[in-house]
Amino acid sequence: MKTKILQVLRQNQDSYVSGQELCGELGVSRTAVWKYIKQLKEAGYEIAAVQNRGYRLVSVPDILSQSEVASRLHTKWLGHDIRYYDELDSTNMEAKRIAEEAGTDGWHGTVVVADKQTAGRGRRGRTWSSPVGTGLFFSVLLKPEINPGNASMLTLVKGMAAVKGIAEVTGLSPQIKWPNDIVIHGKKIVGILTEMSAQIDYVNHIVVGTGINVHQTEFPEEIAGKASSLRLEMQAEGKEESISRAQLLGAVLKYFEQYYEIYLQTEDLSALKEEYQTMLVNCGRTVRVLDPLGEYEGKAMGIDCRGELLVERDGEVCRVSAGEVSVRGIYGYV
Ligand code: BTN
Repeated sequence: MKTKILQVLRQNQDSYVSGQELCGELGVSRTAVWKYIKQLKEAGYEIAAVQNRGYRLVSVPDILSQSEVASRLHTKWLGHDIRYYDELDSTNMEAKRIAEEAGTDGWHGTVVVADKQTAGRGRRGRTWSSPVGTGLFFSVLLKPEINPGNASMLTLVKGMAAVKGIAEVTGLSPQIKWPNDIVIHGKKIVGILTEMSAQIDYVNHIVVGTGINVHQTEFPEEIAGKASSLRLEMQAEGKEESISRAQLLGAVLKYFEQYYEIYLQTEDLSALKEEYQTMLVNCGRTVRVLDPLGEYEGKAMGIDCRGELLVERDGEVCRVSAGEVSVRGIYGYV
């Protein structure tokens, strides 16, 4: 009910919506409308109420409650089940628990989001700093009918969605550092961790977790030199810095659903490759490939249909697979 009220008020942000109109839209009494408006005000929404005119949404708190996120969703199926928590160990772990505890179906498309993570997980066993109210920490739970060997490309699909969502909401120009870090002005803003439970030819579940640095103004010492936040980068560009994490989540989910459906048609990136390459910060740059079998330098040329990075080395094109090696710029992180 609160979701619907927020949607109606947001559609009419510059005008008043009468109590009667809200009652009609929601199919409830005026007293019920008043009760929900009171709850929204208690949650931090500023709602003007003027006799004979009705209600007007004046300002919205930066919260990720179920009703705030749901009122920002523009998807067909993704995120229609939103599980919000003030605090979690890790949204990836919670998504896995949901899949494991709830049986084989009914949870495809569920999104788990938390305001704080106490054990945020990064790639390669690292941690992901997740202090309260600072970032957008969420995981998408999926059960695609795909060959498990094709699942890792979903991380690149998610990277594309993050680029588009961030650009739409902030006006910034994020880029992808292959395979899936999102950077702005050379600093990391987004990390993506995809985890899968599968049998040899069957996916039990896939969790695609995303951490977006939104409001942070400082970072742990070990990452301070290479990490940044949307707020800091908007400040640097002289942009107005008020960012709604719920709006950002809605935008990223909208693009993820679109790209995911395209990916599913072929189970690879053949229809997305070109667009991915336009987002790729490494394209045409000299990179250092940190291959455990021997590091080397080459020129990044783009990706192939499976998301492998094409690196030209001594006139020969090598295919670099994301699971095995990482890539650095020769002058630093990018
Ligand atoms: C990376 O190392 O770059 C990946 C970081 C992924 C962090 C996100 S935050 C939401 C989700 N839950 C986790 O525990 N990790 C991912």
